[in-house]
Amino acid sequence: MTPYDKLLLENKAWAQEQLEDDPDFFNRLSQIQTPDFLWIGCSDSRVPADKITGTQPGEIFVHRNIANMVVNTDVNLLSVLDYAVNHLKVKHVIVCGHYGCGGIKASMTKHDFRAVLNMWLRNIKDVQRLHEDELNGINDEELKFDRLVELNVKEQVQNLAKTSIIQRAWKYHQQPHLHGWVYGLKDGIINPVFEMPANTHINPLYEYDDLDS
Ligand code: CO
Repeated sequence: MTPYDKLLLENKAWAQEQLEDDPDFFNRLSQIQTPDFLWIGCSDSRVPADKITGTQPGEIFVHRNIANMVVNTDVNLLSVLDYAVNHLKVKHVIVCGHYGCGGIKASMTKHDFRAVLNMWLRNIKDVQRLHEDELNGINDEELKFDRLVELNVKEQVQNLAKTSIIQRAWKYHQQPHLHGWVYGLKDGIINPVFEMPANTHINPLYEYDDLDS
């Protein structure tokens, strides 16, 4: 059996199991999805959003990219955010990073990863520059790495709050609540490091004052 045949076989077994537990499972889910959460996580195969949160199909809307970045020119991320906030009306948006993140680690090196990855990692280098003073004060490289993972999550949550998508939803619907979490690969535990409830003020430079409904 090829490795991908195994995936298809496992899929059949899983579908069968779902039906045994709940004969209406697929019928119900095929009609509608009403997730309360948007998850913006790292693509890392060790951080599966639904498994580590015990959520079922239909409960969590997911976007993943390298190092869980919220880049304001990323049409993919912004489309997911717009759809989740304005159509699914999610109550919470969670940016979840993880300790030991390869993307964060790569951004701490001076290595040339070639054009496309360099471009992506530049966004994380910018986070480092913003927090240069704090990071330079940490001598232990592992601790510095961990701290950058946390600071990156915090910056990405703030990047969400800088979008007119979030600011408009906050103004007219008092949601979603934004969360910054960091998952531990070594213990499986999520560490909540930052949050922004609806209508939290940010640097006025980024606040729109003429948002219409
Ligand atoms: Co990662």
